Amino acid sequence: MQDTGQEPDRHVAAGTLAVEEVAVETSLRPRLLAEYIGQQTVKQNLEILLAAARQREEAADHVLLYGPPGLGKTTLANIIARELGVNLHATSGPAIERPGDLAAILTNLEERDVLFIDEIHRLNHAVEELLYPAMEDFAIDVMIGRGPSARSLRLSLKPFTVIGATTRAGRIGGPLRDRFGAVYRLDYYSKDELATIVKRSAGILGVAIEDDAVQVIARRGRGTPRVVNRLLRRVRDYAQVRASGRIGAEEATAAMNAMDIDDEGLDTTDRRLLAAIVQKFASGPVGGAAVAAVIGEEIETIEDVYEPYLLQLGFLDRTPQGRVATERARDHLRTLGYEVPAPRRSDRTDAGLWDGITSEGRTEAVEAVETVEADEAVH
Ligand code: ADE
Repeated sequence: MQDTGQEPDRHVAAGTLAVEEVAVETSLRPRLLAEYIGQQTVKQNLEILLAAARQREEAADHVLLYGPPGLGKTTLANIIARELGVNLHATSGPAIERPGDLAAILTNLEERDVLFIDEIHRLNHAVEELLYPAMEDFAIDVMIGRGPSARSLRLSLKPFTVIGATTRAGRIGGPLRDRFGAVYRLDYYSKDELATIVKRSAGILGVAIEDDAVQVIARRGRGTPRVVNRLLRRVRDYAQVRASGRIGAEEATAAMNAMDIDDEGLDTTDRRLLAAIVQKFASGPVGGAAVAAVIGEEIETIEDVYEPYLLQLGFLDRTPQGRVATERARDHLRTLGYEVPAPRRSDRTDAGLWDGITSEGRTEAVEAVETVEADEAVH
């Protein structure tokens, strides 16, 4: 499924998919569990869950999938439906505006169908309340009429399976979470798994690519299949136009450089984020809202798309006081030629809030926080 509402030409971050990429991306997705590379634990657990449901000829238990974008939540939902031989109905939290919308979807499900709800943490309260009895008892209570003559009518539903997906399990309340019989976390993929995915995708796209080039892509793929598949397509374009079709390490590296993707797979936004923390906030700790304001990105996008990978790389730490750029991040920026001022945090116990922050950084930070506070006051 397509993510919406963001710029189409990002190369690296996994949170977005340009319209023209959806068809290709879909064709690259594995259709069966056996074709699915990586996430071994999730796969093994799903195999049992699905086999048991098939043997009992029942709807499978509800499944909650969580983890950073691009790791295969939608793909797994499609695979589950296919493996069960049932229809998949795909929707998303924000798309279901009223309880009536959900009631319409639920009453249209066939026995054992899969209802995939992406961004399930964004369901509104009234809709979520309706989902509880639907998941638990396969029944919903609908109100008929208004005022004193209004009465509630219980509608029974055919047994079905909800697959919920979210970037962060912590955003889902206990009552909803408790209604999922299986909760699986998707993790970033290893370099080897990404390399296998690149080779598989190259085979499907009919692209001849050398092993060294596969490694170049896998290394910069942010642990994310959606990202390596996107990089593969861009490398293919580059090789076709600039290098007479051959895809070796040299061509792949040149294509990455042309896209401003560095050796760690970071793009310009990642680097702006790190550079802001290092240069304007003396490497932190700094609050997310201030960083978001300085680099002009939504805090949600930063938290869901950028930070998880920077944390995984060991470039960022999250402390109770805020984000901290690590020595590894500082080294990386230094290697790329960034100015890297001394960090504020130090062994000195008297380190004050503003120690080590340049006056320019201080002004910018104060303005940024004021803007955020003003925004919050308005909303
Ligand atoms: N394409 C995208 N994700 C994949 C995965 N996990 N396994 C195989 N191919 C993929």
